[in-house]
Amino acid sequence: MQDSWLLDPTWNFLNHGSFGARLASVHRHQEKWRLQLEAQPVRFFLDQYLPALDEARQAVSRLVGAESDDLAFVPNATYGVNSMLRSLDIKAGDEILVLDHAYGACRAALDYLAQARGARVVEVRLPFPCPGPEAVIEAMLQACGPRSRFALIDAITSPTAWVLPLHDLVAALRSRGVESLVDAAHSPGMVKMDLDGCGAAFTTGNLHKWICAPLGAAFVHVRSDFHQRLLPASLSHGLNLSGPRRWQECFDWTGTFDPSAWLSVPFAIEALSQLHPDGLPGLMRSNRKKALLGADLLVEELGLKRTCPATMIGSMVSLILPLEPVNVDHHLATDPLQRILADEHRIEVPVLSFGGHRLLRISCQSHTTTQQIEALSGVLSGLLG
Ligand SMILES: Cc1ncc(COP(=O)(O)O)c(C=O)c1O
Repeated sequence: MQDSWLLDPTWNFLNHGSFGARLASVHRHQEKWRLQLEAQPVRFFLDQYLPALDEARQAVSRLVGAESDDLAFVPNATYGVNSMLRSLDIKAGDEILVLDHAYGACRAALDYLAQARGARVVEVRLPFPCPGPEAVIEAMLQACGPRSRFALIDAITSPTAWVLPLHDLVAALRSRGVESLVDAAHSPGMVKMDLDGCGAAFTTGNLHKWICAPLGAAFVHVRSDFHQRLLPASLSHGLNLSGPRRWQECFDWTGTFDPSAWLSVPFAIEALSQLHPDGLPGLMRSNRKKALLGADLLVEELGLKRTCPATMIGSMVSLILPLEPVNVDHHLATDPLQRILADEHRIEVPVLSFGGHRLLRISCQSHTTTQQIEALSGVLSGLLG
């Protein structure tokens, strides 16, 4: 049977980046896990859960280029960032660097932790528009001081969709004695990952965005010298265990829950890979090509401005709209232009205000077509006209 997306086809859906989207086969697979659990909950958790979880961990390990001993599942990147932050031995007077592009929820968690420990958060402002990856490294290094101990880095920025030079950033910071916490919420399935080669102390990534696993699937990765430091934001039975896998066992069980999203990850990776003759690498290349072509179209037809060079673009792209920024005061509120596009044209695309600009962010996955971007361009031409 041919696979299909669960997305409502009456929508022009150009916002894969926010919550991903699911294939019908992945949804059915998750339902199988749920039914297996509900048929005999006790035997499921006592006998089947841990071996199935280890299998799922192996699949993630192959996907992100990491030892499975360094990986654990979490429900989302926000949980991953919270766990990483709470595990740091931050003391009064220490400095933690963070990008001005940091995702709001993670920035809030960082500010809270820093305040509680008497540490200082140093915001690193990236040039906007960004001339290239070197400018990112330069800005970060300029902010490093003698008290800088950690940096929270977004591997792919949320408001601007910039793919940052992660490996070079991590190496440059490490050479200054600064360890990195990487928020790679968008990376799995959008860019090739090599976490062992990256060298960051901690990384978290979502699997429900670009791998299209069921919602609630994400991971944390920890460099082996930090194993004994990392603990989940919710502490449970694992704390009573001992041995080198204790940190992982703490993540494997944070209280009774539905693990079907995590256990469906190997199937989701396989189902997504099947969508392109060259598998996941081919799909990532094709999504990026669509994003680049989509940006070209909107720049040529509407005169929107680019925010970064093509070398910093993955499957998402942000462009500057000729509109004033607006204050949207709730994380689930909708920008007025985004509201018109949704309510009057059934186009779902994020419009956001960042750095004194109003931005449009387009996401491209296998369900995205050029016609959808052309339709957006046509509607925007009338609205901006
Ligand atoms: C950079 C970044 N970090 C973290 C998150 C949070 O992801 P989640 O809500 O799945 O925790 C997002 C979500 O879009 C993001 O873009």
